[in-house]
Amino acid sequence: MSEQQVFDVPAKVAERALINAAKYEQLYRQSVEDNVGFWREQGRRIDWIKPYTQVKDVDYTGEVRIRWYYDGTLNVAANCIDRHLPKRAGQTAIIWEGDDPSISKHITYQELSDHVGRFGNILRSKGVKKGDRVTIYMPMIPEAAYAMLACARIGAVHSIVFGGFSPDSLAGRIVDCDSRFIITADEGLRGGKKVPLKANVDAALKQCPGVTDVLVVRHTGGAVHMEAGRDHWLHEEAAKVGVDCKPEEMNAEDPLFILYTSGSTGKPKGVLHTTGGYLVYASFTHQYVFDYHEGDIYWCTADVGWVTGHSYIVYGPLANGATTLMFEGVPNYPDASRFWQVCDKHKVNIFYTAPTAIRALMREGEAPVQKCKLDSLRLLGSVGEPINPEAWLWYHRVVGRHRCPIVDTWWQTETGGILISPLPGATKLKPGSATRPLPGVMPEIVDANGKVLDGPCEGNLCIKDSWPGQMRTVYGDHKRFADTYFSTYPGKYFTGDGCRRDEDGYYWITGRVDDVINVSGHRMGTAEVESALVAHPKVAEAAVVGYPHDIKGQGIYAYVTLKSGEQPTEELRKELVQWVRKEIGPIASPDLIQWAPGLPKTRSGKIMRRILRKIAENEFGNLGDTSTLADPNVVNDLVDNRMNK
Ligand code: PRX
Repeated sequence: MSEQQVFDVPAKVAERALINAAKYEQLYRQSVEDNVGFWREQGRRIDWIKPYTQVKDVDYTGEVRIRWYYDGTLNVAANCIDRHLPKRAGQTAIIWEGDDPSISKHITYQELSDHVGRFGNILRSKGVKKGDRVTIYMPMIPEAAYAMLACARIGAVHSIVFGGFSPDSLAGRIVDCDSRFIITADEGLRGGKKVPLKANVDAALKQCPGVTDVLVVRHTGGAVHMEAGRDHWLHEEAAKVGVDCKPEEMNAEDPLFILYTSGSTGKPKGVLHTTGGYLVYASFTHQYVFDYHEGDIYWCTADVGWVTGHSYIVYGPLANGATTLMFEGVPNYPDASRFWQVCDKHKVNIFYTAPTAIRALMREGEAPVQKCKLDSLRLLGSVGEPINPEAWLWYHRVVGRHRCPIVDTWWQTETGGILISPLPGATKLKPGSATRPLPGVMPEIVDANGKVLDGPCEGNLCIKDSWPGQMRTVYGDHKRFADTYFSTYPGKYFTGDGCRRDEDGYYWITGRVDDVINVSGHRMGTAEVESALVAHPKVAEAAVVGYPHDIKGQGIYAYVTLKSGEQPTEELRKELVQWVRKEIGPIASPDLIQWAPGLPKTRSGKIMRRILRKIAENEFGNLGDTSTLADPNVVNDLVDNRMNK
């Protein structure tokens, strides 16, 4: 029933909105009819050192080439800081809310400028140059943003690794992009618990002989090992340099950052984003999707370790001269009312979070929300996974008090910014639908043979043509880029998502159609978890699938075959969970491990994951054709085991 519900744009929202329904239709039409003209105009929203004359050069066939604004030059940090100073030096750029509710601070644009300038000078003094890769492994503290912007200022390419990843995962990412410079903190703090970031870096660096320098932020003050000659305290280095740091002139297509993300096979891919198009797109989407107005207080609860933090905590908001809130903690510490207390404390107008957080808070009931005023809130957002209508309706009613539209924003690490989303002043809402494409975005739904479907339909989501925020390559492996995204449906960008389009042209993302799972909005390759499991000395084979999970969206379900002679015990089950946490990080912990005497395989030895998915979902009546299995009895064993759980 709820899927049938339609929420009109509230009159108050439409009145002040940058884009109303008529304007959206007009912009969308223009963006399709004159794509180059549309983006030529949008490119002017940022400052260029040398203005571009060329807008777009895209070929989705063959080797795949994507370039935007490619004869223009600019600097991202100058756009996010310097150009705002004449007007807003004293305006807050970043509000930082610590894990401890008694600690917060406001950083003005002038202060941001000074911090980033000093940080850039430190990097330069240590020999970091344009094009060098710098790995950032940080908690959610302002220094994480300073580090990103300092890299952008001097033309270094940052690669942020989420602070929840293990030393092994960190090492893999450092080696892959050949970083010799690491920025970290002594410890992180989340929900009152310490995260040993520097110790993790020390462990990772045993596998990274190329690293020469580690810059360490003193945050908690916890004792850490400092390797002489290699490790430097930020505060000591900062005392040696000034605040003036000349921004490097960058070509629009020079790399800005690498961000590793999971795919259906192999190691995580280094998604590469470049300078000009990315910034135009981050600014464009932040302004229109959040209907950002001068003076708004904007809070995105993501971590800078994920793309959402890159585009919608740092680059989009700061490019637009906004006040962006950065939160170190977690939604349920000290209690389940924390998000809402922070909204009241800092008078947040725009609040952007993930469905998994909404579902977890929903479970705590309405009281923690009701005790807060939340009268500053104007707009709510959702990102990272499909939001189920029940959670959407709760978010709308209990948090938004029926007053705030919800923008359900669909996008990916690869897309750099939001592609499908309501615009609050323009789009009627349907709970659970990401609604319509943004101007300049051309989705297509194709069937398994690549035939483009019309009207209401369901199939695989592709994008027909490029937009400026699109990733340009997989770092160091352009062939993998072309193969992964452009070979399944030649000539189109394939998203890996399934999607339905209804009679109103609304898009409903149904989830991944590949071997990627989405656990609490974190993207995980099943192959990565499998290879972690089989690295355990007692494991012979493993197959991992997702299954529906009330809070996380999807949980991790692992089928494990032990080596002969090994006994499946409760102890071993716990040991394997710990093992995966150590190998990848806590976000990859299997939720359920089922001992599997054998795995269902075809006669050619391929694991039939379709069947494993159905068993994990408890859908035994619907296992499909099992006749091609080498040993159909394997399935009966697995079903018996699952049922006995
Ligand atoms: O399956 C889609 C899901 O998250 C995937 C992208 O994950 P990641 O690259 O980690 O980026 C997450 C933040 C943008 C997509 O392929 N996804 C993301 N947003 C939504 C979503 N699924 C449904 N609705 C969304 N709003």
